[in-house]
Amino acid sequence: ENGSANAVSEKGLIEKMKASGKTIVIFFGSQTGTGEEFAQRLAKNCRLYGLKALVVDPEEIDLEELARLNEIPNAIAVFIVATYGEGDPTDNAQEMFDYLQQGEWDLKGLKYGVFGLGNKTYEHYNEIGKYFDKRLEELNGSRLIDLGLGDDDANIEEDFVTWMDKFWPVVCDFYGISASEQDISMRQYKLMSLDDVATEKIFKGEVYRLNSYVKQKPPYDSKNPFMAPISVKYNLFKGTDRKCLHIELDITDSRLRYEAGDHVAIYPANDPQTVNRIGQLLDVDLDQTFSLINIDEDASKKHPFPCPTTFRTALTYYLDITSLPTTQLIKELAQYATDESERKNLQLMASASEEGKAFYNTFIRDEHTDLVSLLEKMCSLKPPIDHVMELLPRLQARYYSISSSPKVHPNRIHVTCTVVEYETKDGRVCKGVTTNWLLNKPVGDDLKPRVPIFVRKSQFRLPFKFQTSILMIGPGTGLAPFRGFLQERDYYKKEGRMVGKSILYYGCRRKAEDYLYQEELEQYETNGTLTKLNVAFSRDQSEKVYVTHLLKNDAGMVWSILKEGGHVYVCGDAKNMARDVHDILVDICDKEGGMGRTQAVQYVKDLGQKSRYVLDVWS
Ligand code: FAD
Ligand code: 2AM
Repeated sequence: ENGSANAVSEKGLIEKMKASGKTIVIFFGSQTGTGEEFAQRLAKNCRLYGLKALVVDPEEIDLEELARLNEIPNAIAVFIVATYGEGDPTDNAQEMFDYLQQGEWDLKGLKYGVFGLGNKTYEHYNEIGKYFDKRLEELNGSRLIDLGLGDDDANIEEDFVTWMDKFWPVVCDFYGISASEQDISMRQYKLMSLDDVATEKIFKGEVYRLNSYVKQKPPYDSKNPFMAPISVKYNLFKGTDRKCLHIELDITDSRLRYEAGDHVAIYPANDPQTVNRIGQLLDVDLDQTFSLINIDEDASKKHPFPCPTTFRTALTYYLDITSLPTTQLIKELAQYATDESERKNLQLMASASEEGKAFYNTFIRDEHTDLVSLLEKMCSLKPPIDHVMELLPRLQARYYSISSSPKVHPNRIHVTCTVVEYETKDGRVCKGVTTNWLLNKPVGDDLKPRVPIFVRKSQFRLPFKFQTSILMIGPGTGLAPFRGFLQERDYYKKEGRMVGKSILYYGCRRKAEDYLYQEELEQYETNGTLTKLNVAFSRDQSEKVYVTHLLKNDAGMVWSILKEGGHVYVCGDAKNMARDVHDILVDICDKEGGMGRTQAVQYVKDLGQKSRYVLDVWS
């Protein structure tokens, strides 16, 4: 038994829908869980209108069935798809994307609607959602609901609620039913308290396979992570309360392979104090063993997370207990508030009205009201823990750009991460889950301090030819993959190979405080591995100096590197830096290359297409 036993593949999708009388199918393309959560939420809400929906991971079906959906009378297919990286589909939607792109399918009669999840700070905003919406029409499908676009940089929760608000009248009209919600139970899972379960049958934090953390078996991947000991850990910052960790994960005998530029994913655990506090507030024995079982037998997910387990384990390893509560959670939990004004407030916050959305934004977002503070602020709200657990999103793995090269460190993966800590308006200190868990984790070889990891291949690669020149732009922890690149180029140089120019633009606040790997970088410049080291200290003088300022000053050099076929790499903050760098590159091509603006924009775009301008950015 595991966390996501799947039933769709046992029966075909069409057969299954026919057998259970479902007419709505909701596909999700999700990388970090938000898309999947939206899909589950939409399905749940369907029940309020007396409609039956099936949520489907496109990875788990025979895609030919897409073209056969019109066999089901009045079928509606909803696609909730995220755009990832450089305008790519998520891993689980890749095949469906290819399928739509390749075939000349006839989807005549298929009613559909698309909601895209994206982030406006990235250049390829919601490209996948837009593509699905357009392509389904080209293939003869008929758009029943207008495309909805969610922007994770602003308020994706609100975008989704607004889209759902438009979804219901259209769908109810289509089925000829009343567009008002019925008063029925929203529960998707039923709780089974279990006593006398043998310890070895209880999940203890494994993400997928029972006991996989103690009985380790390669190959390791996202469902079967390797338990890596931390061999080395220290703080790279000096003379400041902020911390940036240098961590070395030992992968000896794991058969894990990586390349410079890849990402390592880490499955964290929540802070035990927060877990205990939730136990207290909900008045439960956290060490009780239980299973949550899907009421809908057709659903592909039997359990929302690996079961049986204990409440403590679920809250520690499986559930995201720190991100802000969704409107759905508030909507479903409101009923448990015994105080009428609290209940009314919760209901208002969860409603799609303008007043409701504004209230949600102040109370939840501006005041940073997480689950614990919601339960503390709403004293009469005492929901049953199983209902809370049904509504919380899954705790996700976090990704880090590997900061080493396998040529130099075949048995180690280096991570460079800033410890996340910030204060809310009312003075509470909030801590990032993974970085603080790593900060407090002991170093050593015991099983306990180990870190569940897997490696995710990236497109961020050194040029195929050693002689190709590279420009690297990475302020802050954006330096991470470049440290790997430099280790690798240094290695080849020492082997006597001809290595092209390597030019780095790095930036931090103050030379004496947060200059990462200063000695190493200076050493690389001295021995010639780094052709030129440019560092922007933003706060050592009254005027801000950023990597972008330095880059602009070097316009002539940048153009000569581009002209000779060099590669440009940008890593770090997606929000402003990456966009600024893009604009500067266009400017340089325009002025130095004398090609005019329109052509310069196209030139930079082409560089991207040829993988000569590559981004590894996050927000
Ligand atoms: P979380 O518990 O996830 O908390 C972070 C969240 O807290 C934020 O999303 C935001 O919602 C909130 N938050 C943070 N600051 C504030 C604030 N001031 N006010 C209000 N809310 C706030 N990070 C690195 O340090 N090094 C890397 O090399 C690196 N590489 C990455 C590569 C990729 C491909 C991606 C996607 C991300 C990368 N990251 C990197 C980021 C990393 O994955 C984590 O997001 C980061 O370490 C925080 O994780 P956490 O679990 O500690 O924090
Ligand atoms: P600041 O915090 O002093 O504004 C790493 O975070 C470094 O990147 C810091 O020195 C930070 O400066 C700087 N930085 C902030 N915004 C930037 C931008 N748009 N472009 C380049 N660097 C930036």
